[in-house]
Amino acid sequence: MLNKDKLVEVITDDTCTNCAHCVSVCPAEYLKMKDNKIKANADSPFGCIQCGVCMMNCPNNSIKIRGQGISEKDLIELPKEKPDFNAINSLFLGRRSIRNFKKQEVSEDLINKILDAGTTAPISIPPSEVKVLVINGQDKVQDFACEITETFDKMIKFLNPVVLRLLKHFMGPQYEILKEFIMPYAKLAIDARKKGEDILLYNAPAIIVFYGSELCEKEDQILAATHASIAAEALGLGTCIIGGVPPCIDKNNKLRKKYGLLKNEKASIAFILGHPDVKFNKGIKRRFKDVKYF
Ligand SMILES: Cc1cc2nc3c(=O)[nH]c(=O)nc-3n(C[C@H](O)[C@H](O)[C@H](O)COP(=O)(O)O)c2cc1C
Repeated sequence: MLNKDKLVEVITDDTCTNCAHCVSVCPAEYLKMKDNKIKANADSPFGCIQCGVCMMNCPNNSIKIRGQGISEKDLIELPKEKPDFNAINSLFLGRRSIRNFKKQEVSEDLINKILDAGTTAPISIPPSEVKVLVINGQDKVQDFACEITETFDKMIKFLNPVVLRLLKHFMGPQYEILKEFIMPYAKLAIDARKKGEDILLYNAPAIIVFYGSELCEKEDQILAATHASIAAEALGLGTCIIGGVPPCIDKNNKLRKKYGLLKNEKASIAFILGHPDVKFNKGIKRRFKDVKYF
């Protein structure tokens, strides 16, 4: 449902001085001054986007927005301290994709903390449309790894020489990635699985998948996952994004049904998670391919 179709109540109490600060910070042209009073703008092009900026900015806590995804009960006290650049940068520099995990479960408390951090990421239009699937427990993750590998197997069988010739014609440069990376990788994962090895999810104790309907921008899912994975790092856990998971979930109806994804829902990003069983002695300096300043 689009925001303009959602019911939103704007309530100001008698502490409101009509200073119009909320109007000046509203990014949606939803709050307006009319006859020196703050009013919801019925002509606003897309309604209240339920971002909460007015409530968070009001100097007197006078305004409440009550909608389908927001109310004054969602306001929180801001932490008194912020990590300085060195603290946050040392977290970034020390972060690595982790593919070796201890045989230790990840507690629900840690997972909740990580997901809470995910909810702090920017969202294209609030409230969040992002959904999360948590598969927690090594056995469950191994079942999932088998299901993904079976999907790889079907894909490899489908990609016979005739289909590949057609795809070469239609896919452009992406074809080389399919032929030279995705297919060999899928074959490796299938062969390893036959030997009881898991080179797909690295025997991780947990995996988290971010997904959503067509109303959910994939960037929202990716940003939520990014915040969540950085929080995991701060909690002493390790993560690794697994690129093969989202397309396999999307293409395998049996899998979607088992894990409760609706027909119109797609996954954009997934990461495995666990207590790292590897220690890095060095970090690495990486560069963007290009940076232009104008
Ligand atoms: C979109 C995406 C997909 C990825 N898929 C996989 C994967 O399937 N398996 C894996 O081992 N690592 C995967 N990675 C992790 C990258 O290989 C890793 O980020 C890269 O090697 C750099 O290492 P670092 O994360 O330690 O800096 C993926 C990363 C991204 C961003």
